[in-house]
Amino acid sequence: MKLKNDLLLRVANGQPVERPPVWLMRQAGRILPEYRAVREKLRDFKELVTTPERAAEVTIQPVDILGVDAAIIFSDILVIPEALGLDYLMEEKRGPAFPKTIQNQKDIDALRSDEEAATHLQYVYDALEITKRELNGRVPLIGFCGAPWTLLAYMVEGSGSKTFSKAKKFLYTQPIESHRLLQKITDASIAYLKRQIQSGVDLVQIFDSWAGILSPAQYQEFSAKYIAQICNAITEAPITIFAKGAWFALEDFAQMNCNVIGLDWNMNPTESRRRVGEDKALQGNLDPCCLYASTEQIRKETNAMLQAFEGKHIANLGHGVYPDTPLDGVRAFIDTVQAFHYES
Ligand code: CP3
Repeated sequence: MKLKNDLLLRVANGQPVERPPVWLMRQAGRILPEYRAVREKLRDFKELVTTPERAAEVTIQPVDILGVDAAIIFSDILVIPEALGLDYLMEEKRGPAFPKTIQNQKDIDALRSDEEAATHLQYVYDALEITKRELNGRVPLIGFCGAPWTLLAYMVEGSGSKTFSKAKKFLYTQPIESHRLLQKITDASIAYLKRQIQSGVDLVQIFDSWAGILSPAQYQEFSAKYIAQICNAITEAPITIFAKGAWFALEDFAQMNCNVIGLDWNMNPTESRRRVGEDKALQGNLDPCCLYASTEQIRKETNAMLQAFEGKHIANLGHGVYPDTPLDGVRAFIDTVQAFHYES
């Protein structure tokens, strides 16, 4: 089906647009009261993730209510560890926790195969198909996965952490096992993304949320290499790489088979463009905390950001929107982008 609003795909594919498309990382869940209303009727987060009709409903809410230019499927990066055999709990206010973690080769051998893992995620494909049907071509649908390094970090550490020192210790003390686990996650993620695309996804984003805690050399060895493998394997849809804090890897991403590079708010649009070259689109990168400011200030900073990117740009925040962000701030951001016009 032809999309009525294909701004996101045009930018990802290097085609001209009148204005940048806008969506927000973590727009599904977190901010809308309508999301909380759906969530309260269910037992917990995981029930929502695994109930396709409800997951589709909260995926579409930001399109209906906020008018964003893309939908992102309501799911989580942790569904891959779970499909591989590491069950997680999502504890209210505390975040994810894995009762069992990966400590050695034996734990890695006990995981499911990549194809088994991808098959386990049928509930995501069902949610995508329902979402695609209900969107009825209004806006593109974004699928996603976590980057292999970020998923290893949770699988070894067992929870969120400021330092992820247990996960980093694993890289330093068990590098062979680290690479085996990273390869397993990579293979499962490729199978998973391919099936997401078959289920209707128009673009996929790889979230490397913990990129910035590795040294540049470690990042090359334990993360970038595997992201490149995913980019080479996924030829059916455009790809966005969002690696938080990995300003040092921009040149590497520029060489990969991806279409869009996401920037966090610590990265400078002009300098990033110079380092990435003209080929790829950039996404980002307003500080999520800017949305706590006055409408006037949000407008000013958003316009300054749009001007700094100069085009080939997908407007977004520099990381996921925070749960307590005022909806007026979110609307001011979206409205400012949608009122913007490139000079021809
Ligand atoms: O972008 C979207 O809105 C789509 C849905 C989405 C969720 N998680 C739903 C969610 C996406 C894209 C993610 C990705 C994700 N999950 C990342 C990468 C992006 C990033 O923020 O860096 C990471 C690191 C996770 C792991 C995760 N999931 C954590 C640390 C937590 C707890 C804290 C929190 O709220 O982020 C989650 C839970 C989670 N994932 C919620 C939602 C809506 C909140 C759960 C609830 O409603 O109770």
